[in-house]
Amino acid sequence: MTTAIPNPGLGTFRLKGEDLKSAVTEALDLGYRHIDTAQIYENEAEIGDLLATSGVDRSELFITTKVWYTNLTRDAFIPSVRESLAKLKTDYVDLLLIHWPSPDDEVPMEEYISQLLEARQLGLARNIGISNFTIEQMQRAIHIAGEGEILTNQVEVHPFLQNNAVVEFCQRNNIVVTGFMPLAVGKVLEDKTLARIAEQRSASIPEVVIAWLKHREIVVIPSSTKRAHLASNLECVDLVLSENEISEIETLDRDERIADPDFAPIWDR
Ligand SMILES: NC(=O)c1ccc[n+]([C@@H]2O[C@H](COP(=O)([O-])OP(=O)(O)OC[C@H]3O[C@@H](n4cnc5c(N)ncnc54)[C@H](OP(=O)(O)O)[C@@H]3O)[C@@H](O)[C@H]2O)c1
Repeated sequence: MTTAIPNPGLGTFRLKGEDLKSAVTEALDLGYRHIDTAQIYENEAEIGDLLATSGVDRSELFITTKVWYTNLTRDAFIPSVRESLAKLKTDYVDLLLIHWPSPDDEVPMEEYISQLLEARQLGLARNIGISNFTIEQMQRAIHIAGEGEILTNQVEVHPFLQNNAVVEFCQRNNIVVTGFMPLAVGKVLEDKTLARIAEQRSASIPEVVIAWLKHREIVVIPSSTKRAHLASNLECVDLVLSENEISEIETLDRDERIADPDFAPIWDR
């Protein structure tokens, strides 16, 4: 049976210090149990401290971290995961992701996908997955890991980058889509169509966007430092949009990608 990824999770990119503390503390208090971090966010140790003193039992938490692309070699991979676990103050993560495919296949995919499997085999990760993988890269990863082994592909998805080809491929292959930057890092707040739908529904724009992603069966990991935002992002999964509203949101796709570093793969269109 596929592991359920708690939806929504709490994104923690860019969060450190007091912002991170209030985000994690308020989120846990509101009932969030899924926390998304990464080696490169440099906040694993702070998150580890916050979780250790939160009073929430480890067994209730769903912690995701991601191996940075400089740690994909056989020599670096498992030591880097152990370092993440030491910082997070836990013996295992619930989900371990390859943050980005190795740029230009500098490290062969066979090498780092087998390390990912090894991390799970060693009990360092309960589930494994990938992030920012294209369809061609997912096909290779499935071939290496075997069908049904990759729980999720975490990719950018929001109304302005709907990522239909990747989402369809994942869902056809039983790979859960986790959508990062679901609110386009706040840009959704400026959109007139979303504002109109939100007004009709007496909801906020983020609530409409999260409900639309839920309709697409996409797990979301929005980040927020504000209790009211965290609360509404958690509760709005109950909002059901009409077919008309969904069609209107579909027209907003404009292939607008925010996370597009120079080492990114050639994206599917
Ligand atoms: N795998 C990858 O390569 C990758 C890349 C990027 C991000 N991620 C993950 O995805 C997570 C989410 O992405 P993100 O944090 O960049 O962007 P995001 O979740 O799309 O947007 C975050 C912004 O939206 C605002 N916001 C959140 N809820 C709101 C609400 N209900 N009403 C109004 N404003 C709201 C927040 O401000 P306030 O604090 O004021 O609420 C924050 O500025 C990251 O934290 C990270 O964990 C993964």
